[in-house]
Amino acid sequence: KKKMILDLDTGVDDALALAYALATPDSDLIGVVSSFGNTQVTTAGENTLKLLELLGRTDVPVFIGAAHSSTTDNFETMQVSMDIHGKNGIGDVALPAPTTALSSQTAVDFIIESAHKYADDLVIVPTGPLTNLAEAYQKDPEIENLIGNVTLMGGALVVPGNVTPYTEANINQDPEAADYVFKHAKHLVMVGLDVTLQTLLTKKETQVWRDLGTEKGRVFADIFDYYIDAYYDLDINKAGAALHDPLAVGVAVDPNLVTLLPLNMMVTHEDGRTIGDPARLRDPHKNNFAAVAVDEPFYLERFMNYTTALFR
Ligand code: BDR
Ligand code: CA
Repeated sequence: KKKMILDLDTGVDDALALAYALATPDSDLIGVVSSFGNTQVTTAGENTLKLLELLGRTDVPVFIGAAHSSTTDNFETMQVSMDIHGKNGIGDVALPAPTTALSSQTAVDFIIESAHKYADDLVIVPTGPLTNLAEAYQKDPEIENLIGNVTLMGGALVVPGNVTPYTEANINQDPEAADYVFKHAKHLVMVGLDVTLQTLLTKKETQVWRDLGTEKGRVFADIFDYYIDAYYDLDINKAGAALHDPLAVGVAVDPNLVTLLPLNMMVTHEDGRTIGDPARLRDPHKNNFAAVAVDEPFYLERFMNYTTALFR
């Protein structure tokens, strides 16, 4: 069984990526590292602790990562995200203070240690900025050839971005870090807006969680309904909200959910575009793969089966 590390900027859809990772029988979640992005890094870490406690999984350790990129304080982008994810990152749903604490080891050191321990069996799934992973690669370049698989939510190849016509939010937070990761990862799968915008969760599905009559079901329904309402108010989508981050977890354990295009990519530092890298296009060895189509009914069915069983 693969060992998985999630790198979350928890975040409404990050919360559901966590649920999916706990529910899938196909991998072991060995830890969650936190990133700035949808909210401050400490808030993201605390959200993860609270959600793990709600789900009865206080055995999963949580590590604090980068508070911002190496070039900006990311203050403005975080303000924008709070309109979509709520001031506390999880739809302004209040959860009790966690009884567990954040780990004293840093996110970067946990990634490095796990790479040496599990090598090819390690799968890293970042669903926020790529700052932590780039820092880990830079601190210990040996891990480039160890980590078996990086499957991330971020980027947009053909479909327009959600920050600018060319840029997706996670990549936009730290384009330099993203460029470093695309070029240095041994095997990287980009699950970007090209596919995640084709997946939609509506209040019909969150009602299924609510109808379970459990605290877990109610909390996750409240969190996601906030996101659906934000999508409605901001005129992003009137029917529901994109199920971005859990799809990266889904693809990490089962690539059959999507169609992958082998394409060595780069990220432009000025505007965070994820495009083919001219310098590596003809390289017969592809280390990057972009998801370009998704089996939405298959994914939604699996997502609902896993989450409903977990929230029961
Ligand atoms: C990504 O940005 C964040 O707001 C979401 O959590 C997701 O990871 C979508 O562009
Ligand atoms: Ca996210």
